[in-house]
Amino acid sequence: AAATSPVRLTINGMDQALTLDNRVSLLDLLREHLHLTGTKKGCDHGQCGACTVIVNGRRINSCLTLAVMHDGDEVTTIEGIGTPDHLDPMQAAFVAHDGYQCGYCTPGQICSARAVLEEIAAGIPSHVTGDLNAPPPLSAEEIRERMSGNLCRCGAYANMLEAILEVADTQGLPA
Ligand code: FES
Ligand code: FES
Repeated sequence: AAATSPVRLTINGMDQALTLDNRVSLLDLLREHLHLTGTKKGCDHGQCGACTVIVNGRRINSCLTLAVMHDGDEVTTIEGIGTPDHLDPMQAAFVAHDGYQCGYCTPGQICSARAVLEEIAAGIPSHVTGDLNAPPPLSAEEIRERMSGNLCRCGAYANMLEAILEVADTQGLPA
């Protein structure tokens, strides 16, 4: 029999106590066990970003991590970010700017986009300038670089960028 472990996590604000096969990825826990199918499986190998969720405030590829490693963690998925009746500002901006076509990559894009603005606001150094001492710029290039782990087969990148810049603007992030 496969080894199992107990794990307790908070997912979208709800406590979950489960006993899981040690080999179950966080992505499969979300989709297969908890039926939170907003988080998508694209490649299952860390290459597309469709499975991006927020764990303890940081974005990760949920396909690349085992669920049992997240005992005590707080996980937020797209279902915890907004609903059709109460869109998160980033979701609303994606709608307003046509930041998607098929929508498959969108939950991961939205999770990443929110985290990117938090990373910039928190002063996490620029990937583009490589300057560890200056605050990161909120440039289109910087956002493209920070979003580069989230692929879009439909090529909706330009519209997503507009959406993210708009949210940054309304949040008062410096240009
Ligand atoms: Fe996780 Fe592609 S499904 S990165
Ligand atoms: Fe289709 Fe991005 S909207 S993959």
